[in-house]
Amino acid sequence: MFEQHVRGCRVSDDNDAWIKRWEEGNTGFHQEEINDHLISHWERIVPDRQSTVLVPLCGKSKDMLWLRNRGHRVVGAELSDLAARAFFLENDLVAEERQSGPFVVLSAGGIEIWVGDFFELTPQRVGKLDAWYDRAAVVALEPSVRQRYLAQLKLLLGSKAAGLMLTFDYPAEERNGPPFSVSFQDVEQVFGERFRLKLIDCVDLTEGNRWELSRVWKPVIELRS
Ligand SMILES: C[S@@+](CC[C@H](N)C(=O)[O-])C[C@H]1O[C@@H](n2cnc3c(N)ncnc32)[C@H](O)[C@@H]1O
Repeated sequence: MFEQHVRGCRVSDDNDAWIKRWEEGNTGFHQEEINDHLISHWERIVPDRQSTVLVPLCGKSKDMLWLRNRGHRVVGAELSDLAARAFFLENDLVAEERQSGPFVVLSAGGIEIWVGDFFELTPQRVGKLDAWYDRAAVVALEPSVRQRYLAQLKLLLGSKAAGLMLTFDYPAEERNGPPFSVSFQDVEQVFGERFRLKLIDCVDLTEGNRWELSRVWKPVIELRS
C-alpha cells in the first residue's frame, strides 16, 4: 500500500480510491436488505445482547440497524464521510457529531460510525468491544494488509471475542480485487493464530456471477477466542 503525506495527514492510495468510489456512486457492494447469514447465525454466535459489536469498514450497511435492534451497541468504522452521513440520513436517524483525535464520530440511537481509517482506531477511544461482524471487510483489503487487520482486531477486541465473517472465494488469478479472494483456508492461516474457526456454510454463487468468474463461493465463518 503506497502512502504519502498530504497536509500533515497520512493518506494511502487505497484509502483515496475508496473515498472516490463513494463520491462516484460506485458502490455495487452495498445491500439494501439485511444479510441472510447475519440473521441466521448471529444470535447463536453472540447470544449476549449487551455485547458491543465492531463493524469494521462498515460503509452504510443496514446490517448495523439489525444489530442495534437486537440490543447491541454498534461501533462502525468507515473512511468515507459521505457513506457515514448517508447511513444516518437514509435511515431517518439524526446524528450527533463530535471530534475524537483524527476521527469525526457520528452517532444516533446506539450506533456510532467512526469516520476515518480503521487502522487508527484505539481501544482508548472506542472502549471495550466484544464481537465483530465482517461482511465485505477483509475482502476489501489487499492480501498484504490481512495481518495488520488481525493485529487491529486483537488490539480492539476483548479477550473473549466472537465474530462472523463473510468472504468470497474464487480463483484469484481470474480477477484482481477488491473484493479479493479470501478462502476459508486463507482465513485459517491468518486468523487461526488468535481465533478458533468454524466454516458454518459455503454458498455457491457461481451461476450468473457479475464478475464472470469460473467459480465463486461465499464461505460463512464463525470465529471465537
Ligand atoms: C466493500 S465495502 C463494504 C462495506 C460494508 N461492510 C457493507 O457490507 O456494505 C468496503 C468499505 O470499507 C471502507 N474502507 C476501506 N478501507 C478502510 C479503512 N482503512 N478504514 C475504514 N474504512 C475503510 C470503504 O470506504 C468501503 O465503504
